[in-house]
Amino acid sequence: MLCLLLLAAPALGAGTTLPIPTSPPPNLSAYVSPSFASFSIEFAFFPTFFGNTSAPNQLSLDLVQRITERAGAPPSFRPGGITVDSSIYDSSVAGLDLDESSTGGIYRTTYGPGYLESLALLDNRTQFVFDLNFGNNSLDIALAEAQAAFQTVPSGQLWAFELGNEPDQYNSEQRDTSTWDAATYTSEWVNWTSSIQSSLGIDAPRFVALGAAEDPTSTALITTVDVVADGIAQGGTVKAFSQHMYQYSTCDPVRNALATLPNLINHANITAYVDEWKPQIAAAQSVGVPFIVGEFNSVSCSGKTGVTDTFGQALWIADTMLYGASVNISKMFLHQGAVLVFQSNLQANTPGFSHYDTWFPVTSGTTSPGASPSFVAYLLLAEAIGASNKTRIAPVTAPGDLGSTLGAYAIWDDAVNATAPSRLVLLNMDIFNITSPSPRPAVTIDLSPLVGQGSVTLKRMTAPGLDENDPTAVTWSGQQFYNGTAVGQESVETAAAANVTVQASEGVLVFLQGAASGAGNGTSTGSTGGSGSGGSGGQTSGASRRASIFGWWRV
Ligand SMILES: *[C@@H]1O[C@H](CO)[C@@H](O)[C@H](O)[C@H]1NC(C)=O
Ligand SMILES: *[C@@H]1O[C@H](CO)[C@@H](O)[C@H](O)[C@H]1NC(C)=O
Ligand SMILES: *[C@@H]1O[C@H](CO)[C@@H](O)[C@H](O)[C@H]1NC(C)=O
Ligand SMILES: *[C@@H]1O[C@H](CO)[C@@H](O)[C@H](O)[C@H]1NC(C)=O
Ligand SMILES: *[C@@H]1O[C@H](CO)[C@@H](O)[C@H](O)[C@H]1NC(C)=O
Ligand SMILES: *[C@@H]1O[C@H](CO)[C@@H](O)[C@H](O)[C@H]1NC(C)=O
Ligand SMILES: *[C@@H]1O[C@H](CO)[C@@H](O)[C@H](O)[C@H]1NC(C)=O
Ligand SMILES: *[C@@H]1O[C@H](CO)[C@@H](O)[C@H](O)[C@H]1NC(C)=O
Ligand SMILES: *[C@@H]1O[C@H](CO)[C@@H](O)[C@H](O)[C@H]1NC(C)=O
Ligand SMILES: *[C@@H]1O[C@H](CO)[C@@H](O)[C@H](O)[C@H]1NC(C)=O
Ligand SMILES: *[C@@H]1O[C@H](CO)[C@@H](O)[C@H](O)[C@H]1NC(C)=O
Ligand SMILES: *[C@@H]1O[C@H](CO)[C@@H](O)[C@H](O)[C@H]1NC(C)=O
Repeated sequence: MLCLLLLAAPALGAGTTLPIPTSPPPNLSAYVSPSFASFSIEFAFFPTFFGNTSAPNQLSLDLVQRITERAGAPPSFRPGGITVDSSIYDSSVAGLDLDESSTGGIYRTTYGPGYLESLALLDNRTQFVFDLNFGNNSLDIALAEAQAAFQTVPSGQLWAFELGNEPDQYNSEQRDTSTWDAATYTSEWVNWTSSIQSSLGIDAPRFVALGAAEDPTSTALITTVDVVADGIAQGGTVKAFSQHMYQYSTCDPVRNALATLPNLINHANITAYVDEWKPQIAAAQSVGVPFIVGEFNSVSCSGKTGVTDTFGQALWIADTMLYGASVNISKMFLHQGAVLVFQSNLQANTPGFSHYDTWFPVTSGTTSPGASPSFVAYLLLAEAIGASNKTRIAPVTAPGDLGSTLGAYAIWDDAVNATAPSRLVLLNMDIFNITSPSPRPAVTIDLSPLVGQGSVTLKRMTAPGLDENDPTAVTWSGQQFYNGTAVGQESVETAAAANVTVQASEGVLVFLQGAASGAGNGTSTGSTGGSGSGGSGGQTSGASRRASIFGWWRV
């Protein structure tokens, strides 16, 4: 008896059942794209991430391929961000010239044909949102950029253009801030986008509108709700609406103090924050176009070391994106880039790669290139959403206190079974750090109401702790991906008696119907679940990777 109690003690809520309907519920999302989980790459750094035709960045291409082979389609990419608003296309420049201030801020990005050729390094099914300079208030600059991209990028891949970045934050050098509001933005945006589309001979709507920075509260200067009310969609150029999301920030000391792992890794906070965009999504739907989050990450002003460069960021990405899909955001572009210095003169960070980046593409200083601890979230998302184009998602609220710590998502995939849920994602957001005392708490979910007395297979996203910053210690289905290839034996677990155990600070993807999917190269290894192995081996220690990355800046 004592023995049983000891075994049961850490498994809080043992045998908990979830209120998962056996037929599609009314709050099921629209069909989710296999490319739902996409990337925004800071405009000035696209060639740093992917290289160019004479020197491709194989690590970046390999990591994206690991996602693509699981999702069945490549993620989309948005070369965009704050640096686009001082960019110029110059056909006499081979690749990229960056003009920097003495403190490392980029005040001009000049790019030529080689920059655009970099886009062709990606899978030829990749869809791009190509950002144009709006900040300089010169239609000539924007039109020259649009013409160059239109001539180079195959039309089937140039999903949309975007005009500028975060126009709700333009300063007095960029616009007359005394008159700049939703109405003046809408009128200028419709004028420019109509003019560019007509110059290029494009008939169908081809622009992502807005890309606003501010949270859509009552004080926000320009929101989707506002520009829809101002008639932006009547200009015939809106392909999608976009707003950005950054719940936390290191841009100033007050917000920096709030950007902690316990605040970030909080299911209730994540869902409450995403819920703020529901009226914006509805406004886009009211004029029949999709709503995307064209740029987002957990902590603005380039993340925070010890927070966004840990395994916690993987749980944050998975929960934010699955919840975003469930409320009908059409695609989410996670921002990758570098500290730009001009973002804020109070920010905590100094020049270098952003601490929230999903991978570091090049060596700089003593830092090796490689995947970050958060990379595995994209593999979980790819396999959870799947390749069918027939996947819909509903969030499930666990009973009692578990409701605020367990991110649970039921996934219907019509290609597998149109009536019953096919897959289930369980993210246990309870905090367990590397140094937290054993035993590691866990929850056990009893899935027998869904699958009877049978067993289910599952894949686990885990690490020795939430604050793990060594990417080789972070695994998806038993494998780590630090150097771009899967290392280790793939482990597809079998949970006997339909009871699935998820430890604090890890996530699982459960296959309720059909076989476990994925890249398909692994050999299944039996397990009763519960003890995701940390995979603590690896060639590079986290500590050495955290070292300085100065020296890379002049790309
Ligand atoms: C799951 O585990 C609980 C106890 O934790 C047990 O009561 C239940 O019978 C198990 N479910 C199945 C289907 O065996
Ligand atoms: C391609 O990348 C290499 C290595 O970074 C660089 O030396 C070269 O100048 C680049 N070529 C162009 C056209 O930008
Ligand atoms: C896209 O790439 C695939 C695989 O490399 C190739 O077979 C196909 O011909 C390419 N399609 C186009 C339109 O270039
Ligand atoms: C574009 O604007 C930036 C400031 O936002 C300025 O530094 C740059 O010189 C401008 N470029 C041109 C061509 O006007
Ligand atoms: C944009 O505005 C300018 C200046 O008012 C005007 O000359 C031009 O015709 C407008 N273009 C379009 C496409 O509406
Ligand atoms: C997170 O949620 C908790 C509980 O709802 C709340 O007390 C806290 O203020 C939130 N934190 C942030 C930073 O939003
Ligand atoms: C999913 O949709 C895309 C875009 O329409 C298409 O290219 C792809 O073939 C579809 N995949 C499946 C499995 O139907
Ligand atoms: C969605 O519906 C399911 C089943 O009806 C329910 O358990 C869940 O709480 C709902 N979720 C939301 C966010 O309304
Ligand atoms: C769908 O799932 C239900 C419930 O498990 C099952 O009865 C049905 O046979 C499944 N249909 C298919 C086509 O697999
Ligand atoms: C886990 O570590 C984080 C970051 O070091 C810290 O903020 C948090 O308080 C720790 N939580 C627990 C439960 O140890
Ligand atoms: C990645 O590491 C594994 C194991 O050390 C090795 O077999 C593989 O060749 C490496 N791949 C690359 C691209 O370096
Ligand atoms: C799986 O095998 C295919 C074909 O051999 C290969 O292209 C792919 O990279 C492999 N995936 C993994 C995760 O090793």
